[in-house]
Amino acid sequence: MKKKANTEHEIYPLLANRWSPRVFADKAVETETLKKLFEAARWAASSNNGQPWRFMYAHKGSDTYNEIFEHLADFNKKWCKNAPVLMLTAYKKTFDSGKENFHALHDLGLAMGNLSIQAESMGIAVHSMAGVNWQKAHKTYQVPNDYHITTAVAMGYYGGDVSDLPDDLEKSEKSDRKRMAQDEFVGEETWTF
Ligand SMILES: Cc1cc2nc3c(=O)[nH]c(=O)nc-3n(C[C@H](O)[C@H](O)[C@H](O)COP(=O)(O)O)c2cc1C
Repeated sequence: MKKKANTEHEIYPLLANRWSPRVFADKAVETETLKKLFEAARWAASSNNGQPWRFMYAHKGSDTYNEIFEHLADFNKKWCKNAPVLMLTAYKKTFDSGKENFHALHDLGLAMGNLSIQAESMGIAVHSMAGVNWQKAHKTYQVPNDYHITTAVAMGYYGGDVSDLPDDLEKSEKSDRKRMAQDEFVGEETWTF
């Protein structure tokens, strides 16, 4: 299924075509393929070149995959079980100097943007999830205090059957993608929000 953005101005097709599905093709995403996605993330810009992004992933079928799944919010468990790859993202809160990196979350977002668009170019969908028990994940994986687990992410090739989803999710899968108008988030010469 495609859900191309209904853009008001022409944008790069990979950006318009990217979306966050809740079903995936029944096809593994090989580790070598994932490395290309992480390479795209690797070359994101970051404050002071601090590169504060961190990723931990697991393939479907592994114990760690099942473990990550158990950390998901119930809502996400309803659709996520067929994702070929599950991942946790995190950011490092300080620079190596020990100084706080105020922009670390920003830079994790940039890295995920790169990763998502690289994935899109390869027919792979990336669905981020705030609905993850990150406190529990910190304990499970003994994540040091200097890091903050931010999201879980489901990844897999586009495809799959939306009728496999519960009715409410099938409906939302088929609904239009919506965005604010530009004048709601862009101001020229004045703060209008
Ligand atoms: C940081 C972040 C957290 C999100 N958390 C969830 C989530 O927990 N569950 C879910 O189903 N979708 C989640 N999403 C997906 C958003 O709902 C989705 O990106 C948004 O509705 C826009 O749709 P699109 O990505 O298809 O354009 C999240 C997306 C982001 C970027």
